[in-house]
Amino acid sequence: MTHEVAVVPGDGIGREVVPAAVDVLDAADASIEFVHAEAGDATKAERGEALPEETRKTVADADATLFGAAGETAADVILPLRSVVGSYANVRPVRAYPGTDALAPETDLVFIRENTEGVYSGIESEITAGVRTLTRVVTDEASEAIADFGFAYAERNGYDRVTVAHKANVMTATDGLFLDAVERVSQRRGAAYDAELMDALAMELVMNSEAYGVVVCPNLAGDVLSDLAAGLVGGLGMLPSANIGDENALFEPVHGTAPDIAGDGVANPAATMLSAALLLEYLGHHAEANQVREAVEGVLADGPRTPDLGGTASTGQIRDAVVGRLP
Ligand code: NAI
Ligand code: MG
Repeated sequence: MTHEVAVVPGDGIGREVVPAAVDVLDAADASIEFVHAEAGDATKAERGEALPEETRKTVADADATLFGAAGETAADVILPLRSVVGSYANVRPVRAYPGTDALAPETDLVFIRENTEGVYSGIESEITAGVRTLTRVVTDEASEAIADFGFAYAERNGYDRVTVAHKANVMTATDGLFLDAVERVSQRRGAAYDAELMDALAMELVMNSEAYGVVVCPNLAGDVLSDLAAGLVGGLGMLPSANIGDENALFEPVHGTAPDIAGDGVANPAATMLSAALLLEYLGHHAEANQVREAVEGVLADGPRTPDLGGTASTGQIRDAVVGRLP
């Protein structure tokens, strides 16, 4: 069965790493048809809007989307796109690959981040000049959904530890509700977990990342803790992510447009290629997903490597090396 995948490179290195990952998907031969669409700063400059209706429709109609990054318009692009695919779960696997000089080489954990509410509700107001507020929204429905997703993910992928990040000692109403929802779901599923204060967890992750498996987080905590964990495994160029909804999904590297290296052709495409592997997995192409992952892992281990990993290779050379390792 042919699947339709929307491809939205966006800006900056998104235009370098996404085409490289599409070439890998093509070579993996999973009968995918690509539909290209535009979004981001350049689109806004050309058309007056960062996320044209046409792009929303392409993403809504596709079976899945591969997205790169958007620059200053990131919030106007990625937040709406996540909701176009109905994504309530942001999945961020953090693994240390051999050959990447990771600070914490035993790391193999997955952040399951609530993707629709918390302090990213967008509800901010100015009370008076110099005083502004933000409304943090936490609901039973979204909290139970992310907890259920997290426990199911742990079971399906063989992680025996689930940790829940929170700060319910201070945000008693909102994180209290979040924790209660996790507790209900854990009882319903008969699954165990530990709850950890998110600030202490940040320290534990730096010192003991190998002790963690699945980490279920409210929105902001998941954003920050997963970038922190990226630093343990070779940087942002290494982290893939999936935004999963009930009927659609969007896959993207965790990093942004990297203006400091954009245009130089040296961006590390590993995060985007690993996101493409997650996309293949989601579409049910399990064999091809493993092949892509193994090819990327092989190149990370043996080289060539991009400058962020201490090498001198270009994005194109990494693409060729990964494609060359596919069966
Ligand atoms: P960034 O992730 O773009 O860059 C942070 C640092 O990591 C830079 O030194 C960059 O060179 C490096 N880096 C990131 N990805 C890399 C890769 N694949 N290979 C090698 N090095 C890599 O984050 P920053 O600088 O905070 O944001 C830059 C722009 O990206 C901003 O305009 C921001 O709004 C946007 N952004 C967009 C996101 C999205 O579209 N989802 C996510 C994060 C940032
Ligand atoms: Mg982030």
